[in-house]
Amino acid sequence: MCDNRRDRDDDSLGLTMAKPTDHLWMHFTRMSSFRDGEVPTIVRGEGCYVWDSHGRRYLDGIAGLFTVNAGHGRTELAEAAAKQAAELAYFPVWGVAHPAAIELSERIAGLTPGDLNRVFFTTGGSEAVETAWKLARAYFRKTGKPAKHKVISRYLAYHGTTMGALSITGLPALKTDFEPLVAGAIKTANTNIYRAPVHGDDPAAFGEWAADEIARAIEREGPDTVAAVFLEPVQNAGGCFPPPPGYFQRVREICDRYDVLLVSDEVICAWGRLGDWFGALRYGFQPDIITTAKALTSGYSPLGATIASDRLIEPFLRDGVAFLHGITFGGHPVSSAVALANIDLMAREDLNGHVRANEAAFRAALSKLNDLPIVGDVRGDGYFYGIELVKDKVTRETFDDAESERLLRGFLSDALFEAGLYCRADDRGDPVVQLAPPLTAGQAEFDEMERILRAVLTEAYGRI
Ligand SMILES: Cc1ncc(COP(=O)(O)O)c(C=O)c1O
Repeated sequence: MCDNRRDRDDDSLGLTMAKPTDHLWMHFTRMSSFRDGEVPTIVRGEGCYVWDSHGRRYLDGIAGLFTVNAGHGRTELAEAAAKQAAELAYFPVWGVAHPAAIELSERIAGLTPGDLNRVFFTTGGSEAVETAWKLARAYFRKTGKPAKHKVISRYLAYHGTTMGALSITGLPALKTDFEPLVAGAIKTANTNIYRAPVHGDDPAAFGEWAADEIARAIEREGPDTVAAVFLEPVQNAGGCFPPPPGYFQRVREICDRYDVLLVSDEVICAWGRLGDWFGALRYGFQPDIITTAKALTSGYSPLGATIASDRLIEPFLRDGVAFLHGITFGGHPVSSAVALANIDLMAREDLNGHVRANEAAFRAALSKLNDLPIVGDVRGDGYFYGIELVKDKVTRETFDDAESERLLRGFLSDALFEAGLYCRADDRGDPVVQLAPPLTAGQAEFDEMERILRAVLTEAYGRI
């Protein structure tokens, strides 16, 4: 009886030894993988490293999920959260405001390119993308072009999981279970020059072709029906496709020609990932909207934003008009305070400058892996890289589904983790390993990544 009561007490305190997977439904995870095995459980972080529940240390090669740009263990961000929570834990930005959201919107507007001055807060990236599509549709309705509602995005691109964002996402395998999706989301060419169908040896001509594919899609769909084009500065899914020279400038011209909004989805590419506050600044183009999230707070609290140009808010400034859209936790005071502290920290430590000063060294370390037979391509910019794996380096032959399954799921992800590197082996396009460490990383971390990748990729090739 006594024992029973103790069991019950322990249970109510959450101290019974339930398996993590008994209740926690992990995202994008085959739960069956953990039926018998242990779930890697990360309990602590410091700088570029994290520790698991057994005390083992891992180099965080992907900043959590392209998020912890300032690095782990930043007590000043935790303190900013605590201070704000003690002062005003929650208030919305619906018809009222609070100082943290006001100050943060002003700070963000001061960092964006051009007149991207209007900040609509969300809690994450999918909501930011969802908001951008809704804004584009509402804007054209309010300005006399109600048929403009479609969006164009690129093959393999990931833009989130809510129904609108998922429709914009260009990864068919992620979508099938949820069809039918939102109509009017059109796909066009991405900028993977390694697998370019044309001009593979001429980046400028390839960029021109890829941009013109957007124009051809607009023409096909009917310019009067297309509202926006969603592009990441560097496309993540598929394995880091940077823009060819001149690409975004040409896309801008095309968008102007057809009165289509250019949305720069910077859920990953902002906040120093490419050595600048925004990817659009790095590549010198002017979007109509930037969507962002993740490292806006370096992940210390959830926050996203849809940042629009002055022109886009104009119809909603008229008497009696509102953008009928909102999210309870959008612009949450704690997250806003953390974002302000994060931007302060990034500016004080000049993390953008650090990335620019060290990106060549990062590229050089990863490029050493080009001597491995399994490494087809090493590509990226800033602190954002993908390594495409191939079966045959000369022909660029990729793996079939079964090989990819065996290689990535059956071996690589676990082996890299076992070897002390947390990163991502992804087969949403051709198989790639993705790397995006905290922005504080330097030569020692680059060398460690290269060493672990070399050993594990060498073994992987032997297993094909
Ligand atoms: C480019 C891009 N857009 C949107 C999203 C969705 O963001 P979230 O997971 O915060 O909803 C992601 C997430 O990785 C992303 O990389």
